[in-house]
Amino acid sequence: MSENKEESLLQYEYIDKVKQIVQKMTEEKGRKPVACVTTFGCQMNAKDSEKLCGILEDCGFIISEDEKHADFVIFNTCTVRDNANQKVYGHLGIMHHMKKSNKDLKIALCGCMMQENTVVDNLKKNYRYVDLIFGTHNIFKFAQLLYRMYTEDQMVVDVWESTDEIVEDLPSARKYSFKSGINIMFGCNNFCSYCIVPYVRGRERSRKPEEIVAEIENLVKDGVVEVMLLGQNVNSYGKNLDNPMTFAQLLREIEKIEGLERIRFMTSHPKDLSDELIEVMADSRKICRHLHLPLQSGSDRILKAMNRRYTKEDYLKLVDKIRNRIPDIALTTDIIVGFPGETKEDIDETIDVIKKSAYDNAFTFIYSKRTGTPAAAMDNQCDESFVKEQFERVLNAVQETARKKVGSLEGSVAEVLVEEINEHEEGYVTGRMSNNTMVHFKGDSSLIGKLVNVKLLEAKNFYYFGEEV
Ligand code: 5AD
Ligand code: SF4
Repeated sequence: MSENKEESLLQYEYIDKVKQIVQKMTEEKGRKPVACVTTFGCQMNAKDSEKLCGILEDCGFIISEDEKHADFVIFNTCTVRDNANQKVYGHLGIMHHMKKSNKDLKIALCGCMMQENTVVDNLKKNYRYVDLIFGTHNIFKFAQLLYRMYTEDQMVVDVWESTDEIVEDLPSARKYSFKSGINIMFGCNNFCSYCIVPYVRGRERSRKPEEIVAEIENLVKDGVVEVMLLGQNVNSYGKNLDNPMTFAQLLREIEKIEGLERIRFMTSHPKDLSDELIEVMADSRKICRHLHLPLQSGSDRILKAMNRRYTKEDYLKLVDKIRNRIPDIALTTDIIVGFPGETKEDIDETIDVIKKSAYDNAFTFIYSKRTGTPAAAMDNQCDESFVKEQFERVLNAVQETARKKVGSLEGSVAEVLVEEINEHEEGYVTGRMSNNTMVHFKGDSSLIGKLVNVKLLEAKNFYYFGEEV
């Protein structure tokens, strides 16, 4: 038996132990206890939260999104930018208040922010009412940590520096019945100079292809038609496996899974995007016509300081190659404004790339200084008002290209995966095109999880109104 199998069996034993505690709570309260998992940050964290929910459900908790009426609240935190940290402290303040009127309430924190020593020190000192703290590397120990939290009369803190373990076969609850995120790798080795991710998520580790394929096959049996393959840098998938393989090869294997209709992935680093991947995408019937290709900056000087390891010209050449081979692809990106030493001329270069790449959408972020990263130690941090001004310029450029792109498909018919009832327009549902654009059209809940052909009647902002054909 592998070490990991032993670990997952151990965790199932702890689930049984917590179950007994939950049973006792149920008898005392006359109802099952309620757990709330609040997620900050990226799709990786959303996926981790599904794992937390799976374990909580197996233990007998009712899952709710309502923090204020929960018996157990866990915050799965993000630390990629400072505003994500601030939000967590805001929520903690509210929880402190709640705990005064409900002393049985338990509060837990996990995720990327907990991998920072300064954060944990602050929590230990000033937030004594928190019951459980753990990090990204030992999330597979959640059941065991829950048990400790309910049986020890003190704050439980267990944060690991790193891990090379990948524990398979633990429970997971899905937010959607018809689509699911799948971790294909963990961590990042790139060390972009502004980014804290490599410090809080550790080194790159790829899951074995057979584990990934088996997980997807099981999901498909369970009704899943769309998967999102998750990794900080999916293009370097497989390099550290015992039998190395490329991301493109993995995609070919996943494509073969019968019953699976759509494949997405996130995130690609431009420096590692291979010709082989472009070919596999072009030939595929299932890989969605969407590529998220973070630019960060269009200025060679800033790209170098960011340690991105490509130039503006490399990036634009890559975009050309992709657009030539896959003309109907939608491109989206991430951009940072206000990196140390950035000037108006650097931003001009970024805007030039935005125009030339004609993005369908872009996430624009104000640079946030993360303690411990090389960029935080640079002595030429930008002035706040300058950054705000430049941010507006970038945002306007992005909106201009995005508006043009969305409008371009008006009048055509697209296949849409229906995701949910539209909350704003009665009698409407909302779905997603292969290229990731949202479409609203008349329909009811029976369509959820189905692929439907929809005529795109009118483009509005970044989405369409359409009708089923
Ligand atoms: N400040 C601002 N944005 C950042 N990102 C990562 N680190 C920082 C930072 N320190 C952005 C990058 C990345 C996205 C997930 O978050 O654009 O692609
Ligand atoms: Fe951060 Fe760069 Fe790794 Fe992305 S590739 S997670 S931006 S270090």
